[in-house]
Amino acid sequence: MQLESYLAQCGSRWDDRTGATTMPIYQTATFRHPGLGRSTGYDYSRTGNPTRAALEETLATADGGCRGLCFASGMAALDCLTKLFAPGERIVVTEDLYGGTYRLFERVCRPMGVEAMYVDTSDTAAVEAALAAGAKALLVESPTNPLLKVADLRALSRLARAHGALFVVDNTFMTPLLQRPLALGADVAVYSASKYLGGHNDVVAGAMVVRDPAVAERLAFFQNAAGAVPGPQDCWLLLRGLKTLGVRLRRQQASALDVAAYLCGHPAVSRVHYPGLASHPGHDRQTLQATGFGAMVSFELADPSRVEAILSGVRLFLFAESLGGVESLVTLPAVQTHADIEPERRARLGVTDGLLRLSIGLEDPADLIADLEAVL
Ligand SMILES: Cc1ncc(COP(=O)(O)O)c(C=O)c1O
Repeated sequence: MQLESYLAQCGSRWDDRTGATTMPIYQTATFRHPGLGRSTGYDYSRTGNPTRAALEETLATADGGCRGLCFASGMAALDCLTKLFAPGERIVVTEDLYGGTYRLFERVCRPMGVEAMYVDTSDTAAVEAALAAGAKALLVESPTNPLLKVADLRALSRLARAHGALFVVDNTFMTPLLQRPLALGADVAVYSASKYLGGHNDVVAGAMVVRDPAVAERLAFFQNAAGAVPGPQDCWLLLRGLKTLGVRLRRQQASALDVAAYLCGHPAVSRVHYPGLASHPGHDRQTLQATGFGAMVSFELADPSRVEAILSGVRLFLFAESLGGVESLVTLPAVQTHADIEPERRARLGVTDGLLRLSIGLEDPADLIADLEAVL
């Protein structure tokens, strides 16, 4: 069965008693025991809840893992992952990654003795050199946030395995419909489910899908021990979002290509980053490992002093952080999503004060282009 068919019916066959076609919201903290030493399989909703179980099972199947684990946010998922590492251990990480992940590594993990080493993961040789120095894990975003650089995930998975490092891919920008990290050799796929999986800018959640049962067991232990889990209502919203993931993504990425092509020809724009453009350095690599290019576009203004006028002038794009929802958003990474990265480091990476990031939603692309045309 195609993944889209599976997702369209996620949670639809769970409730045999009533035949409900959508997953019921089990809004309960605890579960009545049938007797001493007996359980229905559910005891307390931090440990497990049927609505969350339906979501976790759906995500595990979508990514081809042995287990899915859901969290109260993408950061809670990443935080859970860091509990696998001990003081004195190193991890190798994509250099231009989401600013919140950088903050987690620098302000939470580093003081506890876990060191993150940042490399350009689109440069396979640089990753190999970093892993050779010893690393417990390799964590990659591809395409990256916000510069949309593409890593060779198959090659990196071989390197990670050769060096005994756990290979984790933050697949938030792609979703399992466009890119399946575990099939490309990763050990864990991690998501901010607040983005495309939910898809409506109305829920904050995170997820992980794990290949190996022993690793999954440890992560599930940490998930329950710390308890940063999503409530049943949020799980239901995610199940509803997943049902339309395919149609949303198809439309969003077609519009993203239109917008990127329009920006390429505009004199006020000095550079456009979108892997769907044949001119993008990661275009061919992306074609070999994913079935699409996603709906995130970033671009550099020729005159960065125009940023404020553009952000206050847009009428259809919403000036907001986040991405992946039905409403198109424009973000200024340097002061929003990537504000926690030091200015010199941001400048070196190319996250400049004139770099704008667009999350293309479901509006008519002609209207989106007209909105940009008016402000540019
Ligand atoms: C690529 C990526 N990973 C992780 C996160 C963190 O997710 P959340 O905001 O759901 O905590 C984000 C948030 O923007 C993100 O863009």
